[in-house]
Amino acid sequence: MQEESPIHMNKDRKLIIAGNWKMNKTVAEALDLVNGLKRELAPIKEVDLVVCPPFTALSEVSKVILDSNLRLGAQNMSEHNFGAFTGEIAAAMLKEFSVRFVILGHSERRQYQKESDELIARKALAAHAAALKPIVCIGETLAERESGRTEKVLETQVRGSLAGLSTAQMEETILAYEPVWAIGTGKTATTEQAQSAHAFIRKVLATIFNETVAKRVRIQYGGSVKAANARELMSQPDVDGALVGGASLELRSFSDIVKNSI
Ligand code: 13P
Repeated sequence: MQEESPIHMNKDRKLIIAGNWKMNKTVAEALDLVNGLKRELAPIKEVDLVVCPPFTALSEVSKVILDSNLRLGAQNMSEHNFGAFTGEIAAAMLKEFSVRFVILGHSERRQYQKESDELIARKALAAHAAALKPIVCIGETLAERESGRTEKVLETQVRGSLAGLSTAQMEETILAYEPVWAIGTGKTATTEQAQSAHAFIRKVLATIFNETVAKRVRIQYGGSVKAANARELMSQPDVDGALVGGASLELRSFSDIVKNSI
């Protein structure tokens, strides 16, 4: 049974809040933060809590959170299982550190590493094959929004990045709607913009998969989430959590986001 909290009485989906630390934190800094989070967030049962440190900190962080309500996520993985792929990390290597989630297709990887929807879909299938839950990121740029192409872009990304997933795999997949123009800019999407994009994404999921899947999939919002805007965003009917960047790097701000969301 999922715990229910007053502002989420109308949702069957449990909130999931993840911290994407990006390329930040040495092992010592990571341990400092995660020890604090473990203490501060110990009473939280209403929300699935995930931390996504850089690869280099996964091993040590995994030991600290073993007996806690924090779960571990990675920020990327290879589509391949092993082999001559210099610099890449395979799903089985993540599993060694009890990693449960993996962020795929973050807009920074789409932009800087030129990751395509097709590649992201192959990675999502590889993640499921290893029983890792993918957090698949989608979102439009400012130019796309301003030219009225938001829904077209989201539909293309949803169809492309989830291609080939079974309905069972889709139910175990998390989506993160991160408008590129809201990432690290301090510009949050309005609650109306976020809700409308999330509802649209769910409609596309119903078309590709079915209504049940669309109702079950959790869709996080990401882009300048802070303690001050978390509650309003999380109270939207189709917003099921947050993927937090900058504000996940400090104990106080991340804890407050979680506490304000329940
Ligand atoms: P910010 O919260 O720093 O805007 O980053 C969002 C993000 O990209 C999370 O994946």
